[in-house]
Amino acid sequence: MKKIAVIGSNMVDLVTYIDRMPAQGETLEAPRFAMGCGGKGANQAAASALLGGNVLMVTKVGDDAFADNTLANFQRLGIDTRFVERVPGVSSGVAPIFVQDNAHNSILIVKGANAHLSPADIDRAEPALRECALMVLQLEIELASVYHAIDVGHRLGIPVLLNPAPAVAGLSPEHLAKLDFLVPNESELALLSGQTVDSPEAASRAARTLMANGVRHVIVTLGEHGALYVGEEGEWRVQGHCVEARDTSGAGDAFIGCFAHHWSRDGDIRKAMTQAVAYSACSVTGLGTQSSYPDAEGFARFAAAHGA
Ligand code: RIB
Repeated sequence: MKKIAVIGSNMVDLVTYIDRMPAQGETLEAPRFAMGCGGKGANQAAASALLGGNVLMVTKVGDDAFADNTLANFQRLGIDTRFVERVPGVSSGVAPIFVQDNAHNSILIVKGANAHLSPADIDRAEPALRECALMVLQLEIELASVYHAIDVGHRLGIPVLLNPAPAVAGLSPEHLAKLDFLVPNESELALLSGQTVDSPEAASRAARTLMANGVRHVIVTLGEHGALYVGEEGEWRVQGHCVEARDTSGAGDAFIGCFAHHWSRDGDIRKAMTQAVAYSACSVTGLGTQSSYPDAEGFARFAAAHGA
C-alpha cells in the first residue's frame, strides 16, 4: 500500500472541560482536565494510521518531555517518523483547548517547534515523498513551507490535499491552482472566498469560486450536517449522522485522515467522503482529539450501528 504523506503540525492538547469561559479578571473552577496528543497534522496522520493506512509524517517536535510523548505516540501508531526532527532549545507545539457543555470548543495554539519546519526539511524528505499516493497539508506551520510543499507535490505529480486550518484569508491563487483537494469548514471557506457561508447553498456558491481558481475538488465539512462536494465530478452532499456529541475537538481532522486513507486506496471520492463523515461523527462521541478516534474495528462497529 502506498503511503500518505502528512506534512504539518503536532501539538500537545491541554483540554479543559468548562461550564463557561471566565470573564476578564475572574477565576473560575473547571470540572475536568485531560492532556492528549493533538495538532491538526498529527491528528490527520493518526486517523489514517488507526484505520490501517501507511503514513509518513514530516514535522518538528521541541526539546522537552512533550516531544518524547509525541514520538512515542507516532511509533505506537506505526507512523513513519524518519522525518520527525527535534528542534534544540525550542518548546513543542501546545494547544490549550476549552470544551463547553454543548461539546463545542475554543482552541489556542502555540506553534513552538512547528514554526521551524522549513522548505529545506521538505526537500530532505523528497525521496520518501516520491513514493506517496497523497500529500496532506494544513496551516499550522509557516505558510512559506506549505507553499513549498504544494510546489514539490505538484512537480512530483503527487495529489495534494490542503486543509486551510486555522483559517487565513488570501491564500496565493498560484498555489490554490496546484491543489487537487481543498477541504475547508464553513468559516474557512467564508474567509477564503470572501463570501458569507451560512447554508449548504451558500457553501456551494463559495466553493464554486474556489474551483474557478483552479482547485479540482472542493470538499466542505459541514459539522453535524455532513459534507459537500463541489468539483470536477459534479456536486453532492453526504448527510451527517445523528449522534450525542461530547467533544467536537479534532472532528475535522478525523474527517480528513479517514478521507485520505480511503481515497488513497481506490480514488473513489464519494465513498471516501461517506466513510469520513461517519468517522468524524464517531469521533465527537468521545473526549479529546486523537483519543476519540476509533481504530478500524471500532469504526466498523460504529458504522454498522449507524448504517454508514
Ligand atoms: O483540530 C484540532 C486541533 O487543533 C487540536 O488537536 C489542536 O492541537 C489544534 O491543532
